[in-house]
Amino acid sequence: MPATPIIAPFPATRLRRLRRTPALRALTAERHVSTENLIWPIFVTEIPGGEGEIPSMPGVERLTLDGAKRAAERAMNLGIPAICIFPHSDPDLKTEGCERAWDPENIGNRAIRAIKEVAPDLAVMTDIALDPYNINGHDGFVRDGVILNDETVEALVRMALAQAEAGADILGPSDMMDGRIGALRRALEQAGHKDVAILSYAAKYASGFYGPFRDAVGASGRLVGDKKTYQINPANRDEALRCVARDLAEGADMVMVKPGMPYLDICREVKDQFGAPTYAYQVSGEYAMMEGAIRAGWLKREVVMESLLSFRRAGCDGILTYYAPQVAEALAQR
Ligand code: PBG
Repeated sequence: MPATPIIAPFPATRLRRLRRTPALRALTAERHVSTENLIWPIFVTEIPGGEGEIPSMPGVERLTLDGAKRAAERAMNLGIPAICIFPHSDPDLKTEGCERAWDPENIGNRAIRAIKEVAPDLAVMTDIALDPYNINGHDGFVRDGVILNDETVEALVRMALAQAEAGADILGPSDMMDGRIGALRRALEQAGHKDVAILSYAAKYASGFYGPFRDAVGASGRLVGDKKTYQINPANRDEALRCVARDLAEGADMVMVKPGMPYLDICREVKDQFGAPTYAYQVSGEYAMMEGAIRAGWLKREVVMESLLSFRRAGCDGILTYYAPQVAEALAQR
């Protein structure tokens, strides 16, 4: 669009002409949301009885391994290209050393293999961060209240290799440690996993909108302090762009902005500046906010599609959203 759009004066220009009928509106729609744009995040539990609805995310369930397989089949049948696994791990096995993060038999890695068994063509994405296995709920190792960046990166590499070994297609480092993308990329190359992609949570903010997620993975009561020494200050824009530039330079294949809706300006800027495959994560708190209002009767369900369109309009190639199966079903029925 030219900087100063040329518009003939009224009545030559009547912008309402093209809004008159559904056909004209369809013909002039600038953006679309399709099932191909969706990545579906799921929670997989290893705790007996841990499955079921997450109270702060009504309509979203923690799944057993069998439930994860059924979700993968559902995604396949609907044409959702990718599923992203988040582990709900046994609290008694969380340690300061986070050893289970790179255990081939941890629930995340078992879920990858189980899904690949039933839906080999579905892209499987993972989360790389120590928090599901860390006794204090942090994404990195903590010593005397301080996050240990470089030691954490070494652990993340072990975690990534175990996920690649289990068959993950896309690794999603969400930890925000410095230097992790380069370290992961080098290790993957060396280990022969040269085609495993990295979708970096590059512009990840220190956000209150992750609250329900922390309930979902059982990290809520655990987190000592906050994540502000590694996640980005919500006041900052330049810093987010520097994070994206850095991660792409270190070998990220795709980048993410997270949360989504409060950071649409960042989505647009990232897409315009870098032209890389760009994703937004419509996080748990965004889901809870909309779904809560919808269930209370305060908003209509149409806000879901409107929210997803906003990401497409802001330049995102895709969206991680808990609404993925619901939206794919609605799209299939049109
Ligand atoms: C953990 C992680 C978080 C989310 C994805 N990976 C939470 C956090 O950083 O505390 C949040 C996702 C959501 O809220 O839906 N590394």
